[in-house]
Amino acid sequence: MTRTDRILMTHARITIDRDFTVADVPHRLFGSFVEHMGRCVYTGIYEPGHPAADARGFRSDVLELVRELGPTVIRYPGGNFVSGYRWEDGVGPVADRPVRLDGAWHTVETNAFGLHEFVDWAREAEVEVMEAINLGTRGVEEARALVEYANHPGGTYWSDLRRRNGAEDPFDIKLWCLGNELDGPWQIGHKTAAEYGRLAQETAKAMKLVDPSIELVAVGSSNRQMPTFGSWEHTVLTHAYDEVDYISMHAYYQEHDGDAASFLADAVDMDSFIDGVVSTIDAVKAAGKHTKQVDISFDEWNVWDQDRYNTVEEREIAASGWREHPRVIEDTYDVTDAVVVGTLLHSLLRHGDRVKIANQAQLVNVIAPIRSEEGGPAWRQSIFWPFARMAALARGRILRLAVSASQISTKRYGDVDAVDAAATWDEESGRVVVFVANRSLESEGDLTIDLRGFGALRVARAETLTVPEGGDRKTANLEATPDAVGMVPLGGASVVDGVVRATLPPLSWSVLELDAARA
Ligand code: AHR
Repeated sequence: MTRTDRILMTHARITIDRDFTVADVPHRLFGSFVEHMGRCVYTGIYEPGHPAADARGFRSDVLELVRELGPTVIRYPGGNFVSGYRWEDGVGPVADRPVRLDGAWHTVETNAFGLHEFVDWAREAEVEVMEAINLGTRGVEEARALVEYANHPGGTYWSDLRRRNGAEDPFDIKLWCLGNELDGPWQIGHKTAAEYGRLAQETAKAMKLVDPSIELVAVGSSNRQMPTFGSWEHTVLTHAYDEVDYISMHAYYQEHDGDAASFLADAVDMDSFIDGVVSTIDAVKAAGKHTKQVDISFDEWNVWDQDRYNTVEEREIAASGWREHPRVIEDTYDVTDAVVVGTLLHSLLRHGDRVKIANQAQLVNVIAPIRSEEGGPAWRQSIFWPFARMAALARGRILRLAVSASQISTKRYGDVDAVDAAATWDEESGRVVVFVANRSLESEGDLTIDLRGFGALRVARAETLTVPEGGDRKTANLEATPDAVGMVPLGGASVVDGVVRATLPPLSWSVLELDAARA
């Protein structure tokens, strides 16, 4: 390996052997998140009166983009919102539902959209529901009532109420989050690890007594910088290991002070964050002589300019009084953000043996791949593309890659590979798909992929997302220019004797789909 951050061509060689695999691609790895926050629900997925809205108020233009994005599972209804939420407020005749203050986002919540609406919408979107319960202000009783309401067939108080509210069949929600970010002092009902660990254990027990088939996610640290990171996971799992199936991780990344090189290398942080949580889970497993394996639900991740939120937006929101669905953290994403999102998806995929669920936060308007305007259009942000391609193409087994690449020096992570990659192999369709980012801002990437043991191959797809002609790394898709950034053909990719060669544009995220069956 050579240090070449100032030369005009970086080099990378990826060796892939079909026998070296990590795990099956977890179906729930390409999840998303809908929170009652800002304009994610109201004027996002739901806007009665919009020209594209159906009879239930679901925006069909947004739904079409969601189907194209391809999330498999969607977490709902929060987020910080859920820690003050009464789920009963969101069921029954809409006219009877109470209007409440949501303290988490300083917003007036009308409750016009609730559990039934979300389940109906999720069916339309063809996604699994991942329901979060309130363990901030509420506890065991309200949680087991909600499971009975949602999943019990009938003949009991809560299940018959669901039927009277129009849903004869149970919702059959399998995946549940035991609260949200309760380690954070900002959270309504913030708790110590011991307080939360016991509450999670007892709530999980009671929920599984109602429906033993459900899977439960315990709250992990809100981020890696939390002073209690590590000890929080250890304490919570020491209490609740036997009762839960996953522990959550959350991480948001951003460019600090124009340091694009470190930002483009943030998947290095995600890799080691995951490795750290895996170690803690396994330490508790060993010490407690447990046999089952707890895995990870990375149920909030994305690029988010939190500096702007903390220094400007939070104050503006408080100063503007109580409003319905105000604009909150509607970050506009550019080419650099899309490349980083691609690498974060690589990191999640590389860890598919332990990260079984992941949710990009959020789906529409609020730090989202899809934007919409009230009464207006909906469009794809730049970060839509790596998610959509990976959700559609990552199939079969995750491959373990050996990467040897030129190095780029970064302030935060030292020297990192100029090229970051992940790959899958679907034996049934005969497709190997390699996802690859060139982190260099100025150098093309000379890429060689040695695919051992796959036999003859054909390049079925070669596409890239990069700086468009006439643009720069800050180019973004805006309402007036919704297609400025997208996937374009990657010219010149070839395969000879199982060796793929391609030239990656500077600052790019690419997909190479190789067909072994029809070569
Ligand atoms: O996704 C935005 C917010 O970020 C969520 O409500 C919260 O859980 C996290 O801090």
